[in-house]
Amino acid sequence: MASTCLGLDNRLARTPQMGWNNWNSLGCDVSQQLLVDTADLLIRLGLRDLGYEYVLLDDCWSDGRDENGRIKVDTRRFPQGMKWVAEQLHNAGLLYGMYSSAGHLTCARYEGSLDYEKADAESWASWGVDYLKYDNCYSAGRHGSPEASFNRYKTMGDALKATGRNILYSLCNWGEDYVHYWDTSIANSWRISGDIYDSFTRPDALCSCTEVDPASPWCVAPGSRCSVLTILNRVAPYADRGQPGGWHDLDMLEVGNGGMTDEEYKAHFALWAALKSPLIIGADIRHLSPSALTILNNPAIIAINQDPVGRPATRIWQDVNVPKDRFGVGEIQIWSGPLSGDDQLLILLNAADKDLTMVAELEDIFAHDGPGGSAPQNAEAWDVHDLWSSRMTDSSAAQILQIADQANESQSAEKLSGLLGDWYNATILSYKEGLKNRDPRLLGQKVSEIKSYGALKVKVPRHSAKVYRLISQAENPSRRYKTTKDEL
Ligand code: GAL
Repeated sequence: MASTCLGLDNRLARTPQMGWNNWNSLGCDVSQQLLVDTADLLIRLGLRDLGYEYVLLDDCWSDGRDENGRIKVDTRRFPQGMKWVAEQLHNAGLLYGMYSSAGHLTCARYEGSLDYEKADAESWASWGVDYLKYDNCYSAGRHGSPEASFNRYKTMGDALKATGRNILYSLCNWGEDYVHYWDTSIANSWRISGDIYDSFTRPDALCSCTEVDPASPWCVAPGSRCSVLTILNRVAPYADRGQPGGWHDLDMLEVGNGGMTDEEYKAHFALWAALKSPLIIGADIRHLSPSALTILNNPAIIAINQDPVGRPATRIWQDVNVPKDRFGVGEIQIWSGPLSGDDQLLILLNAADKDLTMVAELEDIFAHDGPGGSAPQNAEAWDVHDLWSSRMTDSSAAQILQIADQANESQSAEKLSGLLGDWYNATILSYKEGLKNRDPRLLGQKVSEIKSYGALKVKVPRHSAKVYRLISQAENPSRRYKTTKDEL
């Protein structure tokens, strides 16, 4: 038997799951047509072939229970039923995810699954569901300690397992009850904060525990309306806990929803990728802008998320003594982590209220490999590759979006595949293989160098991040992480 430290051994989410979910952009406005249309677009826009394979239906799909306690589907929104939806998605080479809550009600006050775990797991398995997002509302008092939450979530995990169908299990308990201590034993991913909202730094009282010690007495609920910066700061102390099979979920992406600038969305996307969060598109892709598409379809960024080494980046530097915005928020951060091929990821995030020159020293970048500059990587010189340098142009994206919108499907499919040309296609070449082959589409372009024992100094505009892949110039760089413990 292969030895593994994971209690949950369903072999799913060996790299963070990727897909689309309706909640951030559409809330309760769900229907079977929405799922079918979105599936079609994921394919036509080339997003499925970049790895976005799960179509996830969030809250608001059910209609009470029948006399046998079976959950009923809202047949006005889903007239053909869920099995039909799953079949459509499977036929299109996609996977289907559904949502429920470990409570009597869901957060939008539909039927919850607490005390109906077995019946509901059986329903999902019989419909062909591949993924469950399991929320935390109306838990009937069964939270407040790690054990209480663990037991409540484990009951559903066991029920899913008992169905015999392999269903990815995604906890949505908002980081409550120290979920990062017990998550890997029962789940493939777990939310670590209240709901994201479409803001880069704006603090909001509804997202509690923002600036204060989480043990403070008023910090009672994870809340909602959490900014990108708040979520990063929440996960920073335990970012390294994610591993193949179980990942921190920083919440669904806001890219394309309109509340942030292009640079802010780029930073949001790259940091989610670097921290090995599931990459779940939260925009309504029927109305996607070219710039949002060119963020979501950047294979060099996705490759850091899907890297077989499977180690989340960690924060190696934070400075809050920088110019603040009108909310009193402003800080800079540096994140780094190992990538396959002995490469190293480096992200310089400027969340201050001013353009700044930032400096990243090799000594800090490799601090986790040896203190005080003693890591062997310090002696090497490094090529600095910008992972945004090969971003698709806006005009290509605009053309793709325009043709994908056209009614004549077979003609437009042909045109689209012409337009996508040799854009990266992970269905044909997995990220693991692509990285092994050093596919240039995954490595960005060289923009600079770092000398041995040196540093990178770079101007980072306000509210943006520089995202680099460092590639050693040494002929035989010391190989620190050959593969993950679990073969993918
Ligand atoms: C929240 C959850 C959101 C969404 C919503 C649905 O608790 O964090 O992601 O699922 O419920 O009501």
